[in-house]
Amino acid sequence: MKKTFYITTPIYYPSGKFHIGSAYTTCFCDTLTRYKQLQGFDTRFLTGTDEHGLKIQQAAEAAGKKPQDHVDYIASLAQDLWKLLAVQNDDFIRTTEPRHERVVEQIFEQLLAQDDIYLGSYSGHYCVQDEAYFTQTQLKDGNLCPDCGRETKIVQEETYFLRLSKYQDTLLQFIEDNPDFITPETRKNEVVSFVKSGLNDLSVSRTAFEWGIKVPSNPKHVVYVWIDALSNYISALGYKSTDDSLYQKYWVEGNEVVHVVGKDILRFHAIYWPIMLMALGVPIKFKLFAHGWYMMKDGKMSKSKGNVIYPDQLVQRYGLDPFRYYIVKELPYGGDGVFTPEDFVSRVNTEIVNDLGNLVSRTISMAKKYFNGTVRQVTHHHEFSTFEQQLVTLSGEMIASYTAQMDEFKISQAMSDITTLVNRTNKLIDETSPWALAKDPNTMDVLESVIYHLLDSIRLAAILYRPILIESSPKIFEALQVEEQYQGFDALVFGLKKEYIVNAQAPHLLPRLDAEKEIPFIQSLMKGESKAPKVEVIIKDEITIEDFSKIDLRVGKVVSCEKHPNAAKLLLLKVDTGDKVRSIVSGIAEFYKPEDLVGKWIVVVANLKPVKLRGELSEGMILAGDSAGKIVIIEASSDLSIGSMVK
Ligand code: MSP
Repeated sequence: MKKTFYITTPIYYPSGKFHIGSAYTTCFCDTLTRYKQLQGFDTRFLTGTDEHGLKIQQAAEAAGKKPQDHVDYIASLAQDLWKLLAVQNDDFIRTTEPRHERVVEQIFEQLLAQDDIYLGSYSGHYCVQDEAYFTQTQLKDGNLCPDCGRETKIVQEETYFLRLSKYQDTLLQFIEDNPDFITPETRKNEVVSFVKSGLNDLSVSRTAFEWGIKVPSNPKHVVYVWIDALSNYISALGYKSTDDSLYQKYWVEGNEVVHVVGKDILRFHAIYWPIMLMALGVPIKFKLFAHGWYMMKDGKMSKSKGNVIYPDQLVQRYGLDPFRYYIVKELPYGGDGVFTPEDFVSRVNTEIVNDLGNLVSRTISMAKKYFNGTVRQVTHHHEFSTFEQQLVTLSGEMIASYTAQMDEFKISQAMSDITTLVNRTNKLIDETSPWALAKDPNTMDVLESVIYHLLDSIRLAAILYRPILIESSPKIFEALQVEEQYQGFDALVFGLKKEYIVNAQAPHLLPRLDAEKEIPFIQSLMKGESKAPKVEVIIKDEITIEDFSKIDLRVGKVVSCEKHPNAAKLLLLKVDTGDKVRSIVSGIAEFYKPEDLVGKWIVVVANLKPVKLRGELSEGMILAGDSAGKIVIIEASSDLSIGSMVK
């Protein structure tokens, strides 16, 4: 039986577009999940949206929408984004789903029946933004919220309370008995001192607004949004439902459960949630990892400051690997990190394009040039054996360190271990000068041994990168023709694959980013100015309307698309333009995958004289924009019928 691993992100507040900070937790969890899968765990990964509460009711009102419509829209934004980022969550829970609401109702009623929740009344300073009460001494500058700095309001209401005080000592004991329950250590210390300072019972219902889960036995009360939200981690597993098999498997009998959260919501997860579980008689199975925040040079990301950066913008321009690589690497363990366009460009260029990309392409071209692509493990000793042995030893150390770091949620450090391995491998090339060895027939077996070491080391790095460079790692395996049995974590042993047969072109992992162009581009994204860098505009000679009317432009729909058999830059499209389905050859293979185009509504120059392009007939041209070398197809609205004239 495989060991289980259950991991969750916080469920997100649907407050608009997700910036890179909010994408961090999800990318982090996705990376860890992929790592655990490679280690042979049976994984389950949950994320979702936190859709109740006054803040959301107000946001919906501001948008002129019903709350349900508002949250439907934002939940779809979240789901689209996770898809774009290739996040492999197994479930997506929304707190407005009946499967969740029914569980929260039961949890509340059980705690009420047990007298862990009781009715009382409350008067305090309430922050709408953070959905939390603060005492007078906690407030900043008079009546400002200590967390977000917004004005708090004095609210008095009849409310239910959860007896936190009753569980204070048991919680402290639990934290002491389970030293790795809360990590990093500094966060644990914060929690311990907060609990030791004394827990007040927590107000867990509201009567001032409607948008939430009603307390079944007293429906003028709405369940406090944190009691509602925290329950998602088990409601999504079917806790208290007719089928609780997932709950039994991944929670009760599960081997590992991890909640990953940002430091801002530590207290809720480290205090309220375990106390809720104790009161419910549910075992506290989880480990809590609280990460820091992504900041910008001038502080927190905010639209009004003009310093927000959105993940989809970066992914669309640079691809998945650079984004995912950067985002999980740049935030140091436990601390905050700063996003800067300069760092983004230089990390991608240095660590992926230079260190890894060059190593792969140099090694492949040497294997082909000197050995026709076939390179075997050579066993006898030679003058460079010491260097090779150093590499082998280091690879073992890095693999062990990487695993230890990943297991402690130190993904960024684990990634540095791979970089160390890659750099040591590059160093072997400098130490041995393969091109010099190739000149002497007597040193060809020495050369073969060196190249074998490079190849097998690349294989190890590509395995370690599997949870991170999700597109590049498979490309490396393909180019090196590494069979599946040598791609797994159990194949992380130097020398396991005895022979390499490398015929393919060196894979084009990632293009080098032109710092002079890309840094200003990202800066302009941050200011929300434009989606693309400014282009130099030179208008061609004037034409008359008659000249223009000679061009027959039509709306068409792409019915199929495939790669051109003889030209890597070309795609073959079949486009329905109303009169017929025409074949069109287009030079956009660098920018679109064939499957991305199928179903798109586009504009076609329909009366262009047919030509053959590299052996394939092309009956027209599709319209596209060229933005500093990046080609983007002009899409037509599907409100137009196929064959509509464009004028
Ligand atoms: N809805 C609550 C969580 C309830 S869980 C039972 C919530 N949602 S949130 O949308 O505000 O935040 C979701 C996650 O994104 C949190 O882990 C938060 O820390 C994280 N981040 C939001 N901005 C961030 C940065 N700038 N940097 C890193 N992570 C940050 O809290």
